[in-house]
Amino acid sequence: MIIAKTITELQNAIEANGASQVGLVPTMGALHEGHISLVRRCVSENDICVVSVFVNPTQFNDKGDLERYPRTPEADAALLEQNGCNIVFMPSVEEMYPEPDTRVFELGGVAAVMEGAFRPGHFNGVAQIVSKLFYAVKPTRAYFGEKDFQQIAVIKEMNRQIGGIVEIVPCPIVREESGLAKSSRNTLLTEAQRVKAAKISRVLKESVNFVGVKSVKETIEWVEEQFKDDSEFRMDYYSIVDGDSLQDISDWGDSNYIVGCIAIYLGKIRLIDNIKYKK
Ligand code: PAF
Repeated sequence: MIIAKTITELQNAIEANGASQVGLVPTMGALHEGHISLVRRCVSENDICVVSVFVNPTQFNDKGDLERYPRTPEADAALLEQNGCNIVFMPSVEEMYPEPDTRVFELGGVAAVMEGAFRPGHFNGVAQIVSKLFYAVKPTRAYFGEKDFQQIAVIKEMNRQIGGIVEIVPCPIVREESGLAKSSRNTLLTEAQRVKAAKISRVLKESVNFVGVKSVKETIEWVEEQFKDDSEFRMDYYSIVDGDSLQDISDWGDSNYIVGCIAIYLGKIRLIDNIKYKK
């Protein structure tokens, strides 16, 4: 496995390989089973698998969150090598942003709601870095986890705007035995919080029984209610949306593809998850 630190090293390594099908897994490192499931799929579907490990500062709207974000480059490289990655790209901030990126993406409705509303600028930063990675790697396919459900819709829109150059491959959420969606941020939870955090997926799963029984509004209220008795939980939002447009629905009959998306703090750590009600 080659470790490339610069775009030139990265492109030389891809060119030297002569691969025609290049797969890319963009990550911010602190890799876990969720990332590895993307890497394995990328390895199996392409001639060559490139993984980027870069904590992208432009997508953090909270300085503390950027500072706290876990960084484990040596462990990441070892895990990637074990799982068949061919090239890992680990650039510095100066390499990716030799000058400030002033591009502003008009990402429309999919970027305006939920994470877009609660984390202003976040998706513009994601679009900046992912487009830079697409230009640098020129992948055939790029792999993204469905835990970040809205991010996939935003990246699809960004990719469409830059000419649809990459096939975007969404991959299923990987969960801990408790049901907690795997996330690099889980390592920031205490053991007790990690146990508590399993409630998020439990509640979402239970709420699937309400389709056609309770109204959409009652279902949202019920989910919100479940976290009110514990002051360590603080919800940003629970939204039930059309899975393509990401706009709120008001009736279960409004769409054939319905997803519930949650963002909730447990202590200082912000967790997201989602559940499919219909598809
Ligand atoms: O999902 C992530 O880890 C990041 O948002 C991504 C796609 C690697 C861009 O920095």
